[in-house]
Amino acid sequence: MKKIVIDPITRIEGHMRAEVEIDENNIVKEAYVSGQLFRGIEIILKDRDPRDAGLLAGRICGVCTNVHFRAAISAVEDAYGIEDPINSKIIRDLMALALFVQDHVIHFYHLHLLDFVDVTKALEADPKRTSKLGHKYSSHPYANSHAHYEEVKEKLQKFMKAGKLGLFSNGYWGHKAYKLSPEENLLLLSHYLEAMKFQSDISRAIAIFGAKTPHPQTIVVGGVTSVADMLDPQRLNQFIFIIKESKEFIDRAYLPDVKLLTQAYKEDIKAGIGESVGNFLCVGGYKFSKEDQLFEDGVIYGHNFNDIKPFEESKITEEVERAWYKDDQPYYTDLNEDGTLKTDKPDDQYSWIKAPRYDGKTMECGPLARVLVSYQKGNKFIKPFVDEFLSECDLTLMDLCTTGGRNAARAIESAYIGEYLFKFINTLVENIKYYDTQTWGKYDFDALPKNAKGRAFFEVPRGVLSHFVNIEDRKIKNYQVIAPTTWNASPKDSKNQRGPYEEALVGIKLEDPSKPLEVLRVLHSFDPCLACAVHIIDVKGKDLGHYKINASCSI
Ligand code: NI
Repeated sequence: MKKIVIDPITRIEGHMRAEVEIDENNIVKEAYVSGQLFRGIEIILKDRDPRDAGLLAGRICGVCTNVHFRAAISAVEDAYGIEDPINSKIIRDLMALALFVQDHVIHFYHLHLLDFVDVTKALEADPKRTSKLGHKYSSHPYANSHAHYEEVKEKLQKFMKAGKLGLFSNGYWGHKAYKLSPEENLLLLSHYLEAMKFQSDISRAIAIFGAKTPHPQTIVVGGVTSVADMLDPQRLNQFIFIIKESKEFIDRAYLPDVKLLTQAYKEDIKAGIGESVGNFLCVGGYKFSKEDQLFEDGVIYGHNFNDIKPFEESKITEEVERAWYKDDQPYYTDLNEDGTLKTDKPDDQYSWIKAPRYDGKTMECGPLARVLVSYQKGNKFIKPFVDEFLSECDLTLMDLCTTGGRNAARAIESAYIGEYLFKFINTLVENIKYYDTQTWGKYDFDALPKNAKGRAFFEVPRGVLSHFVNIEDRKIKNYQVIAPTTWNASPKDSKNQRGPYEEALVGIKLEDPSKPLEVLRVLHSFDPCLACAVHIIDVKGKDLGHYKINASCSI
């Protein structure tokens, strides 16, 4: 048995390390994934005014800023029983959904694509043939002229001639596991460059209602403060314009590109590479009419898609047996002498991330969980998006539970959100038309109870996010966060159950152990955000179910 250490894993948010043990056939037999950075924003939140929780919690991460901001404010509202007006809910949803799309596009092109695309091979591509290829996956392909591909190729050639690949340096170029033709490589790389513009444009859309992004400023307990933006037709039109442009990119570049990649790497998908434990968790949400919402809630056990259980908060627990905590305090145990993580004994600790479990089981959350649960629960809006992708790429639901499938789910979800975002905007415009311009519900802070407990659950780009607040004497006594990456990147637990990342790594085969590209593919497919994942709570492994269940969690 040989151990391979990858530290740091790059092209993710935050600091992560992975160690895998491989046998003589280079097959991964065991995996340890470790969160490498302790942050402790919850400590900063202690003793603060609960109304400030949002601005502080938004600093948990530099990427997922607006979802932590919102979840913190919602947890405080839940504690006090404050309901924000419908226009506030819509504006909060618009900001969150624009972030979904932004995150997914950045993830696919800038964080994950180079695991599948060989930059050096793109130089051999014929621009004319590349343009023809574009039409195979889209009837109206994005920026698909010969001249454009010629230009991209020249840019790459310049990088190469200068003896450096700039942002493409240090890749495992030439690795045998790269399967694309030169033209396929060039086409995808051209969209890698286009997606940079997409990133900045959609940031502008979020900032219209958020005042800035990252770290928007406009959500407050009781509502939102972006009332002038909401009432200015020019600002609304600007938002709509950017979303329309983004939708073009998703429909004509992102979705077709994921179809291309799915076809090219179908063998890996059919072989189940990157399959995790098969338990999926989704809390649902994003209502766009009285009855209709984007995502359904539910839990799937062991890939049993036909038996979706309802989500119950009281089944969430968290434990720290294998994480660096002791007696309610962070407690780091050093590495072995050879520089590897201490993992030999069943109680060795090896990560800053804790192990949340649902019903005692490891759970995967994220786009794949949302797509599976919502589709199987008969959400009629998502159904055509899933059906079209599965039939065009000749895949089953089981095939989606893989590295390639996670990327497919993310693209399906982006196209779906891109379409239905307009429903949210329409409702907002209708409300304004009929003189409902309320964005904030007045409350008297001094008249609120001195002590209160609240929580908020949201689906956010990477999965299920929950914030818990305990208020005593009008100050925050305790604050807890379970972020999507906490679920997915969790270490083993006291029953030695692996976290989803670890489970997905076991069984994969490495072509060349000195270039563990296959490990990166599996890990990147979850879109890790480690800054979000590491957080502290009462260390003993606590049942979070005592927080009152309130059906308004899926606003
Ligand atoms: Ni994050």
